[in-house]
Amino acid sequence: MTTDPEPFADPGFDGRPGLLDRRRRALRDLRISVTDRCNFRCTYCMPMEVFGRDYAFLPREELLTFEEIERLARQFVELGVQKLRITGGEPLVRRDLPRLIDLLSRIELPEGGPIDLTLTTNGSALRALAGPLAAAGLQRVTVSLDSLDDEVFRSMNGVDFPVSRVLDGIAAAREAGLEPIKINVVAKRGVNEASIVPMAGWARDEGLILRFIEYMDVGHSNGWRVDDVIPADEIVSLIDAAWPLEPVESNYRGEVAGRWRYRDGAGEVGVISSVTQPFCGDCTRARMSAEGTLYTCLFGSDGHPLRDLVRGTVDDAALRAAIAAIWTVRDDRYSELRSAATTDLPRIEMFAIGG
Ligand code: GTP
Ligand code: 5AD
Ligand code: SF4
Ligand code: SF4
Repeated sequence: MTTDPEPFADPGFDGRPGLLDRRRRALRDLRISVTDRCNFRCTYCMPMEVFGRDYAFLPREELLTFEEIERLARQFVELGVQKLRITGGEPLVRRDLPRLIDLLSRIELPEGGPIDLTLTTNGSALRALAGPLAAAGLQRVTVSLDSLDDEVFRSMNGVDFPVSRVLDGIAAAREAGLEPIKINVVAKRGVNEASIVPMAGWARDEGLILRFIEYMDVGHSNGWRVDDVIPADEIVSLIDAAWPLEPVESNYRGEVAGRWRYRDGAGEVGVISSVTQPFCGDCTRARMSAEGTLYTCLFGSDGHPLRDLVRGTVDDAALRAAIAAIWTVRDDRYSELRSAATTDLPRIEMFAIGG
């Protein structure tokens, strides 16, 4: 018999019961990678030189089944998770994904009411899948798109994929009602710098929530250099010069994007400044890889394998106890410590835990 971990009230964090880690951060957000494969080879994530034809991705039997994912997700929600985000690699390459969404959309919060269920995609397959995903219960999507300039986009995605097809995927998501739609842009010095202001103008016109992400030193394959980072402050200044901005309070404690509103009322834009202004102090996210290994930091090196447990004979309370035992001792704050010493440590690759 395993006793259930005791979730305790936490008025100091966000007022909901939940599990706290060593830095008194609640577990609120689970990002579930459903595959390590992707049809793109973005230079900052899966550069073609490293992830070529011969690269060995996970064999199918290593992946959690949809039922295993659902069972684990239910335990996380019991422990206080409110948001499930499906990631990859590229999650839409996993066969039958709408079936998983259907299973997850039935999960309710312990106090009743729906969980926040969303997905991050490169948008390439949304024309085909937005409708089935929405019908299965997906609420909204975030689409990664680094430039509207076809030449820049084709070179950044590494496979010469045309921007027009991603734009059509975004249109399909909108037709299917997967809104609000957020667009993530990884800003890289000298690569898509000139795309920042045009993308802001486009998102204003289209009513999309645009967020710029500082290029991060995730994994070891992308050859990251600090000189390649465009600081969030600089991005905000560039946009502010075109359309004046003012800061907005965050939506919830632990939100990663700093929010800015256009003074003329045309919506808002966000910046995710994990390099220049780290936000580890409020980090409520856990990440599960496609083979069922739990990471408590995007820059983690040691994951905690849960697959054998979920495939074994243990009951749900034992699964919750295992998750609680991992979260309650968590002490990660990589971005706050980022230094020559930490950047040399082994790290998981971004495509394995979906950002
Ligand atoms: P919503 O507000 O619910 O839409 O989600 P979000 O703001 O968490 O956005 P999303 O999950 O799309 O995260 C955007 C990007 O920010 C990710 O793809 C990562 O690149 C980066 N990011 C998200 N969480 C973290 C984190 O905990 N640490 C770091 N360093 N980066 C993160
Ligand atoms: N730095 C910042 N963002 C990254 N992403 C992938 N690799 C990096 C990186 N090195 C982003 C993708 C996507 C999300 C999953 O993470 O563009 O929006
Ligand atoms: Fe694929 Fe996303 Fe990585 Fe690009 S950033 S290679 S789309 S997983
Ligand atoms: Fe959270 Fe790790 Fe990112 Fe800090 S570096 S915000 S602890 S995922």
